[in-house]
Amino acid sequence: MSVIRIQGLQRLYGEIRIQGSKNAVLPVMAAALLHAGVSVIRNVPGIRDVFCMIAILEALGCKCRLEGHDLTIDTRGLCMSKIPEDKGRQMRSSVMLFGPLLGRLHKVDACYPGGCSIGRRPIDLHLSALQQMGARIRADEERVEAYAEELHGEEIRLPFPSVGATENIIMAAVAAKGITRIHGAAREPEIEVLCRFLEAAGAKIHGIGSGLLEIHGGRKLRDTEFAMPGDRIVAGTYLGAVMAAGGEVCLLGVPAGHMEKTLAVAEQAGCIVKAEDGRLFAKMKGRPKAVNLATGPYPDFSTDLQSVMLAVASVADGESRIRETVFEERFATAGELKKMGADIRIEQGTALIRGRYPLKGAVVRARDLRGGAALVVAGLAAEGESRVHGCFYICRGYEDICRDLSAAGAKISLKED
Ligand code: EPZ
Repeated sequence: MSVIRIQGLQRLYGEIRIQGSKNAVLPVMAAALLHAGVSVIRNVPGIRDVFCMIAILEALGCKCRLEGHDLTIDTRGLCMSKIPEDKGRQMRSSVMLFGPLLGRLHKVDACYPGGCSIGRRPIDLHLSALQQMGARIRADEERVEAYAEELHGEEIRLPFPSVGATENIIMAAVAAKGITRIHGAAREPEIEVLCRFLEAAGAKIHGIGSGLLEIHGGRKLRDTEFAMPGDRIVAGTYLGAVMAAGGEVCLLGVPAGHMEKTLAVAEQAGCIVKAEDGRLFAKMKGRPKAVNLATGPYPDFSTDLQSVMLAVASVADGESRIRETVFEERFATAGELKKMGADIRIEQGTALIRGRYPLKGAVVRARDLRGGAALVVAGLAAEGESRVHGCFYICRGYEDICRDLSAAGAKISLKED
């Protein structure tokens, strides 16, 4: 088992290139199934979730080739509608294959999707929308089977702007006959990326970027080449690293236009940020100031950066308040941060953090992807050595967190235990 070792209290200076976006590439890989042909996706991050999705697509009969960061998916051989159980359980995004598989093969058979333990994560919104579009669904605690001779356009009203459900419905709607409108759609930038990819392949979608999407289904799609944007959550993580450790770093390939709330919180913490031509300059003198924030669907502050901000707030000057409104169990990292000396109290969905600087190096364990990255960030502001176990989770979404932070001078390495 591997462990990340960090020697803390080293300020960061240098440049870090930001990898392609995980949460954009996974639905785009699923959407490639909608067209019997070849899609080329560029700037694909070399992360575990991408490798897992490739393995699923191959098990379904597709051919995938990943060369560097270019991924070619040939879906002409798609013939299986059963998502392999071991892979499906590893990754929440396997649910994203339901819409495209129903569209192409008229059926799907899958176990309940897995993923990080950050809350209950039901898939009722996905299933009820697919049902409204003509799918017959049989589901029990373990498995879901769905059939649809033909999906049809529908007026779908989402009671909550679920990112995954919006993406699934968009894909099903592209394959469906007629017009689908999604009222209350999620507006995360990754949904816009999915829509742009589908448009490039010949789909017709109105209202991209808004909460009301109109998809004209049944159009013939074509081969396409498409590049992924930089990962705004990875960029936000490294911005958090600069806030916690101090220093001056330039992040390259950053979609700063989609990081407004993150940049506002960084400024609240006393970090000087400047975005220019895909670069984000961040300068942090001394300790961060206390922050006050609440997570929420985009354009609100991303829940994916909540744990990282918990680490930053742990070393801030003053008392911070962080309210989580999206995933009920996303404060699990607080327990590990406490082992490093953090003073965190959780009260009804809000973390109250009394900052202490520095933290103390400790042996801690990642329990989910972003929580794991947050422990690394905390290690940068801790005296002595910290060891982060559970690196498996971090590799799901970060191509090489040690390589990236070392590029800015951090003393960090991945070691076999
Ligand atoms: C996506 O997950 C992201 N994953 C998550 O990224 C991210 O945290 C989340 O959106 C919110 O921004 C990918 O894009 C692959 P949701 P998703 O459906 O689609 C409830 C990361 O660290 N809900 O918007 O699963 C759900 O329980 C991660 O990169 C239902 O009740 O998120 C949650 O409370 C992890 N029923 C809320 O909605 C449903 O059918 C938001 O979930 C679906 C969701």
